[in-house]
Amino acid sequence: MSLSLTEPASAAPDVADDGVWLACIDCGETLAPFESVVYTCPECDSLLEVRYAEPPTFDQFEGSGVWRYDAALPVPKHVSIDEGDTPLYSVPRLETEVGVDSLQVKHEGMNGTGSFKDRGMTVGVGAAKELGVDRLACASTGNTSAALAAYGARAGMETLVLLPAGKVAAGKVAQASLHGARILEVDGNFDVCLDIVQDLASQGEAYLLNSLNPFRLEGQKTIGLEILEAHRERLGSFPDRIVLPVGNAGNTAALYKCFRELVQAGELAPEQVPKLTGVQASGAAPMVEAIENDLDEIQRWDSVETRATAIRIGNPVNGPKALPGIRETGGTAVAVDDEAITEAQRDLAEEGVGVEPASAASLAGLRELRDRGVVGDDEQVVCLTTGHLLKDPDAAAAAGAEPEPVPGTTDGVLEHLGE
Ligand code: F0G
Repeated sequence: MSLSLTEPASAAPDVADDGVWLACIDCGETLAPFESVVYTCPECDSLLEVRYAEPPTFDQFEGSGVWRYDAALPVPKHVSIDEGDTPLYSVPRLETEVGVDSLQVKHEGMNGTGSFKDRGMTVGVGAAKELGVDRLACASTGNTSAALAAYGARAGMETLVLLPAGKVAAGKVAQASLHGARILEVDGNFDVCLDIVQDLASQGEAYLLNSLNPFRLEGQKTIGLEILEAHRERLGSFPDRIVLPVGNAGNTAALYKCFRELVQAGELAPEQVPKLTGVQASGAAPMVEAIENDLDEIQRWDSVETRATAIRIGNPVNGPKALPGIRETGGTAVAVDDEAITEAQRDLAEEGVGVEPASAASLAGLRELRDRGVVGDDEQVVCLTTGHLLKDPDAAAAAGAEPEPVPGTTDGVLEHLGE
């Protein structure tokens, strides 16, 4: 069974709680959402997703931020730091340079902890409250750990984060540390950290809040809802394409789910669905490999490397949800090298948009696809930038201008300036 864009909404099974249940994306097994802690299908071990008897309509949304969309979410608001409501920037110089009908940048770095992860955590930690667990855990390339630490702190819960030693940007470790998470620096890459934390979770040691957790992706769906609403308000139409960086492919899966539910609700015609276009760093591009070679499954890369440490991931666990998302929306996936990522980071900064390297991959990927003629000049495009510049101060400083030492006098400064 593959996740189709036009599959109708199903009637609530007996296990549903208030019209909400969990379903296996492969075998269709259904489960009560909050009766027990489950991450994958107990029958076939495939991924689970949240389903609703009544997919939401635009007229149900009111208020601001992630909780504007509570009609599309499986839990009430328990733990929040006013996440969401991030800016959609016009970038006129880049729009002209790239040569598309319109280019907007959705800057998720403007969430409270500086990345889109807040959207998933406000819902995921809310689900943890519903389930009554007391210890939260994640593996992370950095941003998930920062967000989990902050939301765990807010909820008064213990948090444990597993990070690949030496491969997490300074801002993110500092956040996890100050918000009081217990930080375990693992001798292994992110995928190894995730293997371990999944083992810990299955042994009941902690509640897993990586994007394998189906509740987290519900929060991340709101990126799509905000983009659609803001784009329509500004330009009178929905975007043709959304270009986003890919690590575990959680956002790709979440955006696709957002669109499927809107199609089910009759709010979006299938041909209006934006083409999901994933970008990976060429040193960590297993999803691109799967798309380019038309593989049924993503093959894990054991060795990965990129300056964009947030997406230094070789085993995108949401592949079974994301591959149909890319294929059914007519999108694609593309790899870009670290130099192209840094150049895009600099060029976004020149438009006043400060992002971390992984985020800039979206613009770098769009440029590559324009060069190849895959993206047309008549398209309305949104690039998703996922994390703030300050997350990775070392990468920003390396990409930017050098400070110039000057004497401590006005004359000395003027002389240095050559005036
Ligand atoms: N961009 C940033 C800044 C990220 O931190 C991540 C993922 C991604 C993109 C990729 O998103 O996994 O939904 O495809 N960071 C995770 C973490 C893995 O641990 O912070 P995805």
